[in-house]
Amino acid sequence: MGATACHVRSALSKPREPKMTISSNPIAAAAAPLASGLRGAAGAPGDKSVSHRALLLGGMAGGETLITGLLESADVLNTARAVAALGADVTRTGPGAWRVLGVGAKGFSSPKETLDFGNAGTGSRLAMGVVAGYPISATFDGDASLRSRPMERVLAPLRLMGAEADTAPGGKLPLVLRGRKVLKSIKFTPPQASAQVKSAILLAGLHADGVTLVDESHATRDHSENMLRGFGARVETEAQGQRRLVRIWGGAQLKGQTIATPGDPSSAAFLVAAALLIPGSDVRITGVMLNPTRTGLFDTLKEMGADLSIENIRSEGGEPAGDLIVRHSQLKGVTVPPDRAPSMIDEYPILSVLAAFAEGETRMLGVHELRVKESDRIALSMGILRAAGVTCTDGPDELIVTGKGAAGVDGWGLKDALPTHGDHRIAMSGLVLGLASRKGARVAEADMIATSFPDFFDRMESLGARFAERPGAAS
Ligand code: S3P
Repeated sequence: MGATACHVRSALSKPREPKMTISSNPIAAAAAPLASGLRGAAGAPGDKSVSHRALLLGGMAGGETLITGLLESADVLNTARAVAALGADVTRTGPGAWRVLGVGAKGFSSPKETLDFGNAGTGSRLAMGVVAGYPISATFDGDASLRSRPMERVLAPLRLMGAEADTAPGGKLPLVLRGRKVLKSIKFTPPQASAQVKSAILLAGLHADGVTLVDESHATRDHSENMLRGFGARVETEAQGQRRLVRIWGGAQLKGQTIATPGDPSSAAFLVAAALLIPGSDVRITGVMLNPTRTGLFDTLKEMGADLSIENIRSEGGEPAGDLIVRHSQLKGVTVPPDRAPSMIDEYPILSVLAAFAEGETRMLGVHELRVKESDRIALSMGILRAAGVTCTDGPDELIVTGKGAAGVDGWGLKDALPTHGDHRIAMSGLVLGLASRKGARVAEADMIATSFPDFFDRMESLGARFAERPGAAS
């Protein structure tokens, strides 16, 4: 993306054929044990959840949406392409700076090409909620990982609202979705704690004939609610303990906004973990979003005895944000309660690595949703730990790690690349383990890190990390 201003259709065009197998990808990365601690300051990359939503809402809204700090990761760029294919004008005006001229009252039109979301559950599922509310038809597809993930969780409520979908067997991608100009409002209780399901329903609810209610038994990230309000929709949330009743009124016409994307706590987690595990580390991670629906990992780390503090709390893009000060710490094992899972759902792979270095046992409960992420993250996290010489066990809904504590973690060395099933967070977790281990670690499919954290290697290196091997291009 060399040019300063470029139109998304031409600048980001790419072959439409999805990758058929992820395991054939040969690009590896390796982390040898780091001799000295991480030092200095690094910013967190733009938040992935906020970035997807800013593009989608900007595309639906009337007028101009200006986004700064957008995460320019492969997942988010696929959403940008999809929004352009649906009829909005999407332009990159500088690094992280994007202008979306939304379709407004004219509405989206049927895209000529397949909407290929690559690896992204969030982009694809939220876009299904968007497409459902227009009298159009769109084909959704993705890579082999996304093709294996459940889509019926989103399609079931959208069908109740009046959309129609033809899917591959088992409710999987590829699928064709046909929307309607006016949907039926529904009251829906998602069976799983999922912000993607909630968001798809709310986005469709914008075009429903009344008030649509999502009754969440466990609160999940609320960026859609916050941003929809910012764009002019009427959205009300009622909290009852962990439960959230979210209502959206149909019929609002969204108006373009200016959005400053806050830093992603889920990506910052890898920098934080490396600093906690590598002796001598003392770092500041700046501009991390601190929305309480996302900070479960930081709460857990404090319980584990982490030297982690927050300074300079402010508001960024309508979300609370702050700087994290992190110093090397000897952690101790804890029990992570099931009701915390939604607020740290993407952080369990790196928490399992942190737990491997802790004294005693860490029990992660209520984690069954990890089985249907970019990979089965319980199985893959255990793969990393066992390869590194760490004892762990699982159940349908739990992962238990016996920490090595002061004895330290071996790692598996720099020769064989551990398969990551193309899962970016598994690859980054393996590399952080390698830096803090005795023998180091090598992971396969490391280019997939660019789906969520394209400059992971650069940001880690800016703090003093060194990688024995890394994908050539950082983005
Ligand atoms: C996301 C919701 C979560 C999370 C994903 C981002 C979102 O997925 O794992 O990375 O932006 O709404 P689920 O809704 O499947 O829990």
